[in-house]
Amino acid sequence: MTDAVHLGSGKVRELYALDAERLLLVASDRISTFDVVLPTDIPDKGRVLTGLSAFWFARTRSLCANHLLALRPDGRSTECRRLQMLPIECVVRGYLAGSGWKDYRTTGEVCGHRLPAGLKESDKLPTPIFTPATKATSGHDENITGAQAAALVGAERFAEAERLSIALYQFAADYARARGIIIADTKFEFGTDRDGRLVLGDEALTPDSSRFWPADQYAPGGAQPSFDKQYVRDFCEKTGWNKTYPGPELPTDVVAGTRARYIEAFERLTGIAFARYVDNPQVVLG
Ligand SMILES: Nc1ncnc2c1ncn2[C@@H]1O[C@H](COP(=O)(O)OP(=O)(O)OP(=O)(O)O)[C@@H](O)[C@H]1O
Ligand SMILES: [Mg+2]
Repeated sequence: MTDAVHLGSGKVRELYALDAERLLLVASDRISTFDVVLPTDIPDKGRVLTGLSAFWFARTRSLCANHLLALRPDGRSTECRRLQMLPIECVVRGYLAGSGWKDYRTTGEVCGHRLPAGLKESDKLPTPIFTPATKATSGHDENITGAQAAALVGAERFAEAERLSIALYQFAADYARARGIIIADTKFEFGTDRDGRLVLGDEALTPDSSRFWPADQYAPGGAQPSFDKQYVRDFCEKTGWNKTYPGPELPTDVVAGTRARYIEAFERLTGIAFARYVDNPQVVLG
């Protein structure tokens, strides 16, 4: 990595330029809750996110082009095509949760989609909906309507991003459901390549970019236990933390429980033992 130029740090990833066309995305073990990065790492979390994203990238190429070029042997570094990222987050919701539920409760709509009356929290939607959000440079992303998103990226790009996002979600949701996991919603980030083509970037269909719910515990009418961050969220709530920086240190049992859940999500979805991935990351590409 001697020639890589550090471009910046996200909450979870370090970004390096390998050359004019290629980036190196290195996923750390940092964890954020309520948009605050906590002082304690979850060992191997970055590997889980990297491996899972690559697993989906390899299986959705026929649906949509993506940025993946290669995985490095450390299991947390992705060589990828450098894209011009769209200024919107492409969220797909198959179930009513989080800000979608909040918006529906107050307006009966989510991002301009009018939904049937009488839906409960966590209910399955009649059909998955595309609910774009702004990419806030600081603070929380904000839901916007399709018309607002189209004004930001152009009507044609918007339509293409919507179609691809729904197709990717549908594929992954069906795949996951057969393995006992509900993907309630997920966020994609697209960019354009040198030739102006739309390409899927960032991470995809991971516990950090999605709500994963254990299907055997699904019970609409309230919030669902999340597959991964539930230990962390519950612990943070119990400490009485005010959800602003700095977050609390995590005790070892919370770290271990969270790590185990991330790895379980990886193994259930991929059908690959995590130890095999650590040994040779290429196994997720097969
Ligand atoms: N192929 C790509 N080309 C250019 N930028 C990319 C590509 N893939 C991902 N990115 C950007 O790299 C960053 C990934 O870092 P990370 O996931 O840690 O960020 P984040 O905390 O989610 O968001 P933020 O950038 O707001 O801090 C994101 O800003 C994402 O938009
Ligand atoms: Mg990110």
